[in-house]
Amino acid sequence: MPSPEERFDAIVLGAGGAGLMCAAAAGQRGKRVLVIDHAGQAGKKILISGGGRCNFTNIHTAPDRYLSANPHFAKSALGRYTPADFLALVERHGIAWHEKTLGQLFCDGSARQIVAMLLAECQAGGVTIRLGHAIGAISHGDGRFRVTHGDRVAIAPSLVIATGGPSIPKIGATGFAYDLARQFGLKIVEPRPALVPLTLGGEELLFRSLSGVSADVIARCGRAAFREAALLTHRGLSGPAILQISSYWRHGGSIDLDFLPDQAAGWMIEAKRARPRITLTTLLRGLLPGRLADVLAERLGLTGDLGNMPGRKLQEAEQRLRAWTFRPNGTEGFAKAEVTIGGIATAELSSRTMEARRVPGLYAVGEAVDVTGWLGGYNFQWAWASGWAAGQAL
Ligand code: FDA
Repeated sequence: MPSPEERFDAIVLGAGGAGLMCAAAAGQRGKRVLVIDHAGQAGKKILISGGGRCNFTNIHTAPDRYLSANPHFAKSALGRYTPADFLALVERHGIAWHEKTLGQLFCDGSARQIVAMLLAECQAGGVTIRLGHAIGAISHGDGRFRVTHGDRVAIAPSLVIATGGPSIPKIGATGFAYDLARQFGLKIVEPRPALVPLTLGGEELLFRSLSGVSADVIARCGRAAFREAALLTHRGLSGPAILQISSYWRHGGSIDLDFLPDQAAGWMIEAKRARPRITLTTLLRGLLPGRLADVLAERLGLTGDLGNMPGRKLQEAEQRLRAWTFRPNGTEGFAKAEVTIGGIATAELSSRTMEARRVPGLYAVGEAVDVTGWLGGYNFQWAWASGWAAGQAL
């Protein structure tokens, strides 16, 4: 015998950061909320984030640190639920935290504390959470959504898509949000992996021999630039500078690495004047890891003392070191991507409430939406802010 239909004010699909925040906010406003997730555990991405300590926000959060077809879309939600608001919640729950670098806030203890906090907030709002429930058919009619999950059926006037994007499928991530959005006629901005290592081939394969070497660089792609560490890997390039720039890189395009981020222009001419007997390799070894210095010097093809090299050659070499061009042949894909860029088109949604303009009662929040933050706590801040915005409107 099928179970009787259960009635709620809102059904939230996905018990990740955005879904739990949305459910807690709506529940605490007196709404009867059901959260459904196919995973056996809530907040799995929170648990693995920030090396197990969850980089839960960034104090420098601003709309220009997010990529979207509409760069203005995130302003409203980010402006109404800020890093300070999330931090106040963290402190209310007695969770110790610290700032690492670049405004990134982490738990002192464990990411589990953030999941426990969100579950406690849901409990305070009387939210029903069903984990380990596969979502079946979803239909819509007479102003109500009907969601089959396992052998149960729930009905509500509001439905929130909070099932994230397809990055890291091995922990249960899927493209379900896009399928559901399409079912309701919403457009999708083509999803692609972001905050992801880049792979090298061809001539650049040689750099793979430097696997494990890292250097402080400025990574550039178009007008985007990030000063952080780059790591050479057996497949290509990784490290924070590369993950950041990967969000701006497109197939067929190139990225530039500046290996001399701290040297003033004319540095090599000055070195020739001050230390004419030094070789380029030795000079570079003073700044960069030895193996990297050797490969770069070899590729520049300048042997012998700086004192014997024409100034023009040194200027050219310096230029190359300031903008070493790599043409990645791909990325490590959704299996390794921290986030998915693209997703449910912002043009379909109200930036204030996250409700679909053409389907009243349908909402989308978090990573499912075409809003993607930089590395460093920005993506969770979007999950909290967009979830909260919808939670106020349901
Ligand atoms: P999220 O993916 O968290 O949640 C979606 C939920 O929906 C999941 O519980 C999933 O099981 C469920 N679901 C999916 N498909 C379903 C289906 N078909 N049926 C039912 N349920 C389904 N960000 C940051 O700001 N700071 C950080 O430190 C990190 N670190 C980090 C590390 C790693 C390894 C990754 C992969 C990602 C990060 N991120 C991050 C990014 C961050 O984790 C991400 O942006 C948010 O978790 C997105 O939150 P959502 O709630 O939108 O989706």
